[in-house]
Amino acid sequence: MRTSSSLLRAFRPQVQERLYDFYDELRSTDELFWDRHLDAWVATGHAVVSDAAGNPGLSSVRYPDIAAVSEELRPLARVLSRQMLYNDAPDHARLRALISRAFTARAVATLRARIAEAVDRIITHTAPTGRMDIVADLARPLPLTIICDLLDVPQQDRPALAAWSEPIAEAIGNSRLDADGNRSASQSMTHLLTYLRELLTRHDTPPAPHTLRALVTAQAQNTDQDLDELLANCALLLIAGHETTTHFIGNATLALLRHPHAADQLRRRRDLMPAAVEELLRYDAPVQLMLRRARQDMNLAGRTIAQGQAVLLVCGAANRDPAVFPDPHVLDFERSGGRHMAFGHGPHFCLGAALARLEGAIALEALLTRLPGLRLDGSSPQWQRSLNFRGLTRLDVAFTPVSDDQSQPQAGATGRGGGGGAARAVVR
Ligand code: HEM
Repeated sequence: MRTSSSLLRAFRPQVQERLYDFYDELRSTDELFWDRHLDAWVATGHAVVSDAAGNPGLSSVRYPDIAAVSEELRPLARVLSRQMLYNDAPDHARLRALISRAFTARAVATLRARIAEAVDRIITHTAPTGRMDIVADLARPLPLTIICDLLDVPQQDRPALAAWSEPIAEAIGNSRLDADGNRSASQSMTHLLTYLRELLTRHDTPPAPHTLRALVTAQAQNTDQDLDELLANCALLLIAGHETTTHFIGNATLALLRHPHAADQLRRRRDLMPAAVEELLRYDAPVQLMLRRARQDMNLAGRTIAQGQAVLLVCGAANRDPAVFPDPHVLDFERSGGRHMAFGHGPHFCLGAALARLEGAIALEALLTRLPGLRLDGSSPQWQRSLNFRGLTRLDVAFTPVSDDQSQPQAGATGRGGGGGAARAVVR
C-alpha cells in the first residue's frame, strides 16, 4: 500500500516528543512505504529493517555520482565516499580492517580506567554545585576526550576538532541542508583532514604505544597505503565516535529520570547495567536512520525496489516493533529476546559498539550513584533537529550538592555491573 504520510514529519519539534507514536502510525499503516516527499522507501518494521541492513542487493554507497552532488557539498562528499560506512564489499572490508584492531572488545577494555577517570573528573567538579547540563558537562566532553585520547590529539587542539565535527555531523544527519550548511560542513571537513594529516605524519612526537594513532601511523608509513583513505576513515571515527555516544548518554539519562523506578532498580542491582545499556539503546536510539540504495531492481518485503532507489531504514521504529519487543514502549531491563537495531546490523555493524557501551555504562553508573536526588530541572528537553541523529541540545538536572570527599566513586561503580576495577583505578 502507498501512504501519503512522510517521515519528514519527524522533523517537526512537536513530533520529536511523540516520535515513537508517530513511528507506530507509520508502521501500522505500512512497514515499507514509498515516501514521495523524501523520494525514498521508508522501512519501519524490525524484520524488514534487519533484512535490508545486511542485504547485499542494497548498497551503502552514499554518493554514486559525485559530479551530480552540489558544488558546496562536493568536497565533503568526496571524503565520505572513501569512508568504510559508505562503501560496499570488497572495499568496505579492506577499509574496516585498517582500524578495526583498535576497537575489539579486548582493546576497548583497556580504556576502562581512562574512561572512569574522565567521568570522575567531571562528576567531582560538578557534584558540589547541585546542578548540571548533562549534555554540555558530561555527554559532549566524555566521548570527545576518549576518541581524542585514542588518536593522541593534544589537549589544546581538541576544541577545534569539536567545532569542526559539528557542522559535518549536521550535514550527515540532514540531507536537506541549505547551501551555507553544506559549504560549512565541507570547509570543516577540509580543516579536519589537514589537521589529521599533520598529526599522523608528524615525527617530532612519536605516537604513544597501543593508541589508534600508533596503528594509523604505522599504516600511513606503509607505502602501499593511500593516506587520504586512512585520513578519511580517521575523520569518520571522530564524527561517528562522539556525536552518537553524546546522544546516547543524554537520551539514556532522560529515560532514566523519566522512569525513577528503573533508575532505582539500577542503583540496587548494578549487575543489570549491561542489560540496561542495551535496553536504553533500544528505547531511544541515537542513530535513527540508515540509508541504502538498490543496486538493481530487487524485491524487499514483497515490494519491487527499482535500481538506484533509496531505502531509509528507521532503526528507531524497528526498536519499538511490537512483533519483536512485547510492550515496546516499556523500559524493561529484564527484557529477553529481540536484537535491537541501534548499532545497525550486517557488515556495517557499528565498529565502536564496545566503546560506546563502556562509556555509556560508566557515565550512567556515576550519575546514578554519585549524585543523590538526581532529577530533571527546568523546561521540557530540547531535541536537536535531525532526521538521522536523535539527541538533546541540553538536559538540565539538579541534585543534592555533594562535597568533594562525599562524591568519590563507590566500590563497585565500574560500569561493568559490580566488577570494582575502574572504581579502584579512579580512587587511587
Ligand atoms: C551509542 C553510540 C553509537 C551508536 C548508536 C552508533 C550507531 C551506529 C550505526 C547504526 C552504524 C551502522 C550504520 C549503517 O549500517 O549504515 C554505525 C557504524 C559505525 N560506527 Fe557507530 N555508533 C555509536 C558509537 C560509535 C563509536 C564510539 C565509534 C568509534 C569510535 C563508532 C564508529 C562507527 C563506525 C566506524 C561505523 C562504520 C562501520 C562500517 O561501515 O563497517 N560508532 N554506528
